[in-house]
Amino acid sequence: MTNYLDAGNGCKVIFDDFQNVKLSEPADLVFADPPFGINFKANLQTYHRKPDALSYREVPLEVYPKFVKSLLDWSYKALSESGSMWLLSGWNNLSTVLQAVEDSGFHLLNHCIWRYQFGVFTKKRFTTSHYHLLLLVKDLNNYVFNKPQHYAEDVWYIKRPYNRGVQTAGNELPEKLVEKCIRTSSNVGDLVVDPVLGSGTTLKVCLRTGRRCIGIEINPALIERIKSKLSKAT
Ligand SMILES: C[S@@+](CC[C@H](N)C(=O)[O-])C[C@H]1O[C@@H](n2cnc3c(N)ncnc32)[C@H](O)[C@@H]1O
Repeated sequence: MTNYLDAGNGCKVIFDDFQNVKLSEPADLVFADPPFGINFKANLQTYHRKPDALSYREVPLEVYPKFVKSLLDWSYKALSESGSMWLLSGWNNLSTVLQAVEDSGFHLLNHCIWRYQFGVFTKKRFTTSHYHLLLLVKDLNNYVFNKPQHYAEDVWYIKRPYNRGVQTAGNELPEKLVEKCIRTSSNVGDLVVDPVLGSGTTLKVCLRTGRRCIGIEINPALIERIKSKLSKAT
Protein backbone atom coordinates (compact mmCIF):
# COMPACT_ATOMS: atom_id res chain seq x y z
CA MET A 1 0.00 0.00 0.00
CA THR A 2 1.35 3.47 -0.89
CA ASN A 3 1.82 5.89 2.00
CA TYR A 4 2.03 9.68 1.82
CA LEU A 5 3.49 12.37 4.00
CA ASP A 6 2.22 15.88 3.27
CA ALA A 7 4.87 18.41 4.32
CA GLY A 8 2.83 21.45 3.23
CA ASN A 9 3.71 24.23 0.74
CA GLY A 10 3.48 21.84 -2.22
CA CYS A 11 5.94 19.34 -0.70
CA LYS A 12 5.16 15.67 -0.10
CA VAL A 13 6.71 12.23 0.23
CA ILE A 14 5.40 9.10 -1.48
CA PHE A 15 6.60 5.83 0.06
CA ASP A 16 6.91 3.51 -2.91
CA ASP A 17 9.31 2.31 -5.57
CA PHE A 18 9.83 5.28 -7.91
CA GLN A 19 9.16 2.93 -10.84
CA ASN A 20 5.52 2.65 -9.68
CA VAL A 21 4.97 6.40 -9.49
CA LYS A 22 3.48 8.46 -12.31
CA LEU A 23 3.57 12.24 -11.81
CA SER A 24 0.54 14.35 -12.64
CA GLU A 25 2.65 17.26 -13.94
CA PRO A 26 6.11 17.48 -15.52
CA ALA A 27 8.99 18.16 -13.15
CA ASP A 28 11.44 21.03 -13.66
CA LEU A 29 14.30 19.29 -11.88
CA VAL A 30 15.13 15.76 -10.75
CA PHE A 31 17.69 15.44 -7.97
CA ALA A 32 18.82 11.84 -7.43
CA ASP A 33 21.38 10.41 -5.01
CA PRO A 34 20.77 6.68 -5.64
CA PRO A 35 22.10 3.72 -3.64
CA PHE A 36 25.76 3.08 -4.44
CA GLY A 37 25.56 -0.59 -5.47
CA ILE A 38 28.52 -1.42 -3.17
CA ASN A 39 26.84 -3.38 -0.40
CA PHE A 40 26.73 -0.31 1.85
CA LYS A 41 24.77 -2.22 4.51
CA ALA A 42 27.93 -3.89 5.78
CA ASN A 43 29.28 -0.45 6.71
CA LEU A 44 26.07 0.47 8.46
CA GLN A 45 26.46 -2.39 10.92
CA THR A 46 29.90 -1.09 11.86
CA TYR A 47 28.80 2.46 12.59
CA HIS A 48 26.10 2.02 15.26
CA ARG A 49 23.36 3.36 13.02
CA LYS A 50 19.71 3.60 14.02
CA PRO A 51 17.41 0.66 13.04
CA ASP A 52 15.84 2.61 10.15
CA ALA A 53 19.31 2.97 8.62
CA LEU A 54 19.83 -0.78 8.95
CA SER A 55 16.78 -1.38 6.76
CA TYR A 56 18.46 0.69 4.02
CA ARG A 57 17.63 -0.63 0.52
CA GLU A 58 20.86 -1.29 -1.30
CA VAL A 59 20.81 -2.33 -4.96
CA PRO A 60 22.85 -5.52 -5.63
CA LEU A 61 25.78 -5.02 -7.99
CA GLU A 62 24.40 -7.53 -10.55
CA VAL A 63 21.31 -5.42 -11.15
CA TYR A 64 22.96 -2.00 -10.75
CA PRO A 65 23.17 -1.25 -14.52
CA LYS A 66 19.46 -2.06 -14.89
CA PHE A 67 18.59 0.07 -11.86
CA VAL A 68 20.53 3.11 -13.13
CA LYS A 69 18.99 2.77 -16.59
CA SER A 70 15.53 2.62 -15.12
CA LEU A 71 16.23 5.69 -12.91
CA LEU A 72 17.42 7.67 -15.94
CA ASP A 73 14.50 6.58 -18.16
CA TRP A 74 11.99 7.38 -15.43
CA SER A 75 13.57 10.80 -14.81
CA TYR A 76 13.72 11.66 -18.52
CA LYS A 77 10.00 10.92 -18.86
CA ALA A 78 9.16 12.82 -15.64
CA LEU A 79 10.88 16.04 -16.76
CA SER A 80 9.57 18.93 -18.85
CA GLU A 81 11.39 19.67 -22.12
CA SER A 82 13.55 22.31 -20.38
CA GLY A 83 14.15 20.06 -17.36
CA SER A 84 17.48 19.10 -15.78
CA MET A 85 18.71 16.30 -13.57
CA TRP A 86 21.47 16.14 -10.97
CA LEU A 87 22.63 12.51 -10.72
CA LEU A 88 25.11 11.63 -7.98
CA SER A 89 27.56 8.73 -8.03
CA GLY A 90 30.53 7.38 -6.16
CA TRP A 91 33.58 6.29 -8.18
CA ASN A 92 33.02 2.51 -7.81
CA ASN A 93 30.20 2.29 -10.36
CA LEU A 94 30.94 5.48 -12.27
CA SER A 95 31.58 3.70 -15.59
CA THR A 96 28.12 2.07 -15.35
CA VAL A 97 26.50 5.43 -14.59
CA LEU A 98 28.30 7.32 -17.38
CA GLN A 99 27.41 4.60 -19.91
CA ALA A 100 23.75 4.74 -18.85
CA VAL A 101 23.79 8.56 -19.20
CA GLU A 102 25.20 8.24 -22.71
CA ASP A 103 22.36 5.87 -23.68
CA SER A 104 19.64 7.93 -21.97
CA GLY A 105 18.98 10.89 -24.29
CA PHE A 106 20.24 13.37 -21.67
CA HIS A 107 23.18 15.69 -22.40
CA LEU A 108 25.95 15.77 -19.81
CA LEU A 109 26.44 19.50 -19.14
CA ASN A 110 28.85 19.27 -16.21
CA HIS A 111 30.70 16.60 -14.28
CA CYS A 112 31.28 18.26 -10.91
CA ILE A 113 33.26 16.88 -7.98
CA TRP A 114 32.19 17.19 -4.38
CA ARG A 115 35.25 17.11 -2.14
CA TYR A 116 34.43 16.34 1.49
CA GLN A 117 36.30 15.66 4.74
CA PHE A 118 36.22 12.52 6.91
CA GLY A 119 36.63 9.80 4.30
CA VAL A 120 36.77 6.33 5.88
CA PHE A 121 40.41 5.62 6.99
CA THR A 122 42.28 3.13 4.78
CA LYS A 123 45.66 1.42 5.23
CA LYS A 124 46.60 0.20 1.76
CA ARG A 125 44.89 2.62 -0.60
CA PHE A 126 44.01 6.34 -0.65
CA THR A 127 41.01 7.43 1.40
CA THR A 128 38.01 8.33 -0.75
CA SER A 129 36.98 11.91 -0.08
CA HIS A 130 35.10 12.90 -3.22
CA TYR A 131 31.83 12.23 -5.00
CA HIS A 132 30.62 12.76 -8.58
CA LEU A 133 27.77 15.17 -9.39
CA LEU A 134 26.51 14.90 -12.96
CA LEU A 135 24.41 17.74 -14.33
CA LEU A 136 22.20 16.46 -17.18
CA VAL A 137 19.85 18.42 -19.42
CA LYS A 138 17.29 17.35 -22.01
CA ASP A 139 17.83 20.31 -24.35
CA LEU A 140 21.21 22.04 -24.63
CA ASN A 141 19.47 25.22 -25.84
CA ASN A 142 16.81 25.38 -23.16
CA TYR A 143 17.58 24.82 -19.48
CA VAL A 144 17.74 26.75 -16.20
CA PHE A 145 21.22 27.70 -15.01
CA ASN A 146 21.35 30.25 -12.19
CA LYS A 147 25.11 30.66 -12.04
CA PRO A 148 26.02 30.69 -8.34
CA GLN A 149 29.03 33.03 -8.71
CA HIS A 150 30.99 34.88 -11.41
CA TYR A 151 33.71 32.21 -11.61
CA ALA A 152 31.80 29.03 -10.86
CA GLU A 153 34.16 26.05 -10.74
CA ASP A 154 33.19 22.38 -10.99
CA VAL A 155 35.02 21.25 -7.83
CA TRP A 156 33.07 22.03 -4.65
CA TYR A 157 34.57 21.73 -1.19
CA ILE A 158 31.65 21.25 1.19
CA LYS A 159 31.98 19.70 4.64
CA ARG A 160 29.83 16.80 5.72
CA PRO A 161 27.77 17.82 8.73
CA TYR A 162 29.15 16.03 11.80
CA ASN A 163 27.63 16.15 15.26
CA ARG A 164 29.45 14.05 17.84
CA GLY A 165 27.21 11.30 19.24
CA VAL A 166 24.31 11.94 16.82
CA GLN A 167 23.26 8.84 14.90
CA THR A 168 22.66 9.41 11.21
CA ALA A 169 21.45 7.31 8.29
CA GLY A 170 25.08 7.25 7.19
CA ASN A 171 24.30 8.57 3.71
CA GLU A 172 22.73 11.97 4.34
CA LEU A 173 23.97 14.73 2.08
CA PRO A 174 24.89 18.17 3.43
CA GLU A 175 22.04 20.63 2.89
CA LYS A 176 24.57 23.12 1.46
CA LEU A 177 25.39 20.72 -1.37
CA VAL A 178 21.77 19.94 -2.24
CA GLU A 179 20.90 23.65 -2.02
CA LYS A 180 23.64 24.58 -4.51
CA CYS A 181 22.28 22.06 -7.05
CA ILE A 182 18.67 23.10 -6.53
CA ARG A 183 19.26 26.87 -6.65
CA THR A 184 21.42 26.51 -9.76
CA SER A 185 18.97 24.37 -11.74
CA SER A 186 15.50 25.56 -10.68
CA ASN A 187 13.53 28.70 -9.85
CA VAL A 188 11.16 29.58 -7.01
CA GLY A 189 7.82 27.75 -7.47
CA ASP A 190 9.35 25.03 -9.69
CA LEU A 191 8.64 21.34 -9.10
CA VAL A 192 11.67 19.37 -7.91
CA VAL A 193 11.45 15.57 -7.71
CA ASP A 194 13.76 13.28 -5.73
CA PRO A 195 12.93 9.64 -6.69
CA VAL A 196 15.36 8.18 -4.08
CA LEU A 197 14.71 10.59 -1.21
CA GLY A 198 16.38 8.94 1.80
CA SER A 199 16.24 11.09 4.94
CA GLY A 200 14.45 14.02 3.26
CA THR A 201 17.34 16.45 2.65
CA THR A 202 15.99 17.49 -0.76
CA LEU A 203 12.52 18.08 0.65
CA LYS A 204 13.87 20.24 3.47
CA VAL A 205 15.96 22.36 1.09
CA CYS A 206 12.96 22.82 -1.23
CA LEU A 207 10.77 24.01 1.64
CA ARG A 208 13.45 26.53 2.64
CA THR A 209 14.07 27.80 -0.91
CA GLY A 210 10.44 28.02 -2.10
CA ARG A 211 10.42 25.10 -4.52
CA ARG A 212 7.64 22.48 -4.58
CA CYS A 213 8.92 18.96 -4.03
CA ILE A 214 7.87 15.36 -4.47
CA GLY A 215 10.15 12.88 -2.70
CA ILE A 216 9.80 9.16 -3.39
CA GLU A 217 11.29 6.63 -0.97
CA ILE A 218 10.94 2.85 -1.02
CA ASN A 219 11.70 2.41 2.69
CA PRO A 220 8.71 3.45 4.84
CA ALA A 221 10.85 3.01 7.99
CA LEU A 222 12.41 6.38 7.11
CA ILE A 223 9.22 8.32 7.88
CA GLU A 224 10.29 9.29 11.42
CA ARG A 225 13.74 10.40 10.27
CA ILE A 226 12.17 12.55 7.53
CA LYS A 227 9.73 14.12 10.00
CA SER A 228 12.53 14.80 12.46
CA LYS A 229 14.72 16.39 9.77
CA LEU A 230 11.86 18.65 8.64
CA SER A 231 11.19 19.73 12.21
CA LYS A 232 14.76 21.03 12.71
CA ALA A 233 15.79 24.48 11.51
CA THR A 234 18.54 24.46 8.84
C1 LIG B 1 21.81 7.28 -0.88
S1 LIG B 1 20.20 7.26 -0.21
C2 LIG B 1 19.63 8.95 -0.40
C3 LIG B 1 20.15 9.84 0.69
C4 LIG B 1 19.61 11.25 0.61
N1 LIG B 1 20.22 12.00 -0.47
C5 LIG B 1 19.76 11.98 1.94
O1 LIG B 1 20.40 13.07 1.99
O2 LIG B 1 19.25 11.49 2.94
C6 LIG B 1 19.25 6.40 -1.41
C7 LIG B 1 17.84 6.06 -0.99
O3 LIG B 1 17.18 5.44 -2.10
C8 LIG B 1 16.19 4.54 -1.59
N2 LIG B 1 15.78 3.65 -2.69
C9 LIG B 1 16.43 2.55 -3.15
N3 LIG B 1 15.73 1.99 -4.18
C10 LIG B 1 14.62 2.78 -4.38
C11 LIG B 1 13.52 2.72 -5.29
N4 LIG B 1 13.44 1.77 -6.23
N5 LIG B 1 12.56 3.68 -5.21
C12 LIG B 1 12.62 4.65 -4.26
N6 LIG B 1 13.66 4.74 -3.35
C13 LIG B 1 14.64 3.83 -3.42
C14 LIG B 1 16.92 3.88 -0.43
O4 LIG B 1 16.00 3.28 0.48
C15 LIG B 1 17.70 5.08 0.17
O5 LIG B 1 16.99 5.66 1.22
